[in-house]
Amino acid sequence: RTVAAILAGGVGARAGLKTPKQFARVAGRSILAHTLAVFEGAPQIDEIVVLMTPGYVREAEEIVALEGFRKVRAVVEGGASRTETTWRALEHIGDGDADVLLHDAVRFLLEPAIITRCVAALAHHRAVGVAVPSSDTLLRVDPAGDGEVIRDIPDRALFRRAQTPQGFRLEVIREAYLRALADPGFASRPATDDCGVVLRYLPEVPIHIVPGSERNIKVTHPTDLAIAETLFHLATTAIPRSAADLSGRAVTVLGDGPVAGA
Ligand code: CTP
Repeated sequence: RTVAAILAGGVGARAGLKTPKQFARVAGRSILAHTLAVFEGAPQIDEIVVLMTPGYVREAEEIVALEGFRKVRAVVEGGASRTETTWRALEHIGDGDADVLLHDAVRFLLEPAIITRCVAALAHHRAVGVAVPSSDTLLRVDPAGDGEVIRDIPDRALFRRAQTPQGFRLEVIREAYLRALADPGFASRPATDDCGVVLRYLPEVPIHIVPGSERNIKVTHPTDLAIAETLFHLATTAIPRSAADLSGRAVTVLGDGPVAGA
């Protein structure tokens, strides 16, 4: 079985909204619902577990019920950090033979093809990350006075930007987290993603990379919401090839811009 754990346990402080950003609406639907719809519609995914910000479990359950997402087995409270939330997901999934995809709920623009790539790679690899090249040059900096100075400009071709989902054999991610939890130093230097936990605690397991996409952005700051909204509408307007294609399909048109190809 393949289980998707949707990590929606954050508060979204940097987004500066009144409620967690996973409830922000894009085209009349919450970000959480958009994300769940992608996994619900992915034939490779058998079950979904949603990890939710404490105090918002009921809201998430209502979304699941209203949308009729049948793969969602449970909505569970997340933890104080992303890694704690992942651990709660793993506790909920339990033991057994499974592949697990861990996904940031706020990356609602992920394409089904990324799930396909990730699951296909798990047939041959025990850990799989999704990443894109960096078009910006990357700088390694050191603090200096009241600012920073450049220490190194590494070869950009050797760097990737990490996205989600990240996929693992269940026993691999469980073992990595068990070792992390047993390490007193883990809390003071937590990982920002799950590949980081495997890399640190099970370095013998190679983490295979499959391509992500520039659309698969993580809504973090207020501008990301505006960018994501624009990208969302670009996709839905770009799909139809003719007016006939529009029949029976819900298509959102941004402002009064043209529908591509119509
Ligand atoms: N996340 C989580 N549990 C946490 C923290 C984060 O499940 N305790 C999830 C978020 O809901 C999000 C993803 O991890 O889907 C990426 O995290 P990030 O964007 O950093 O989310 P927040 O912690 O919500 O944002 P901020 O740091 O601005 O508060």
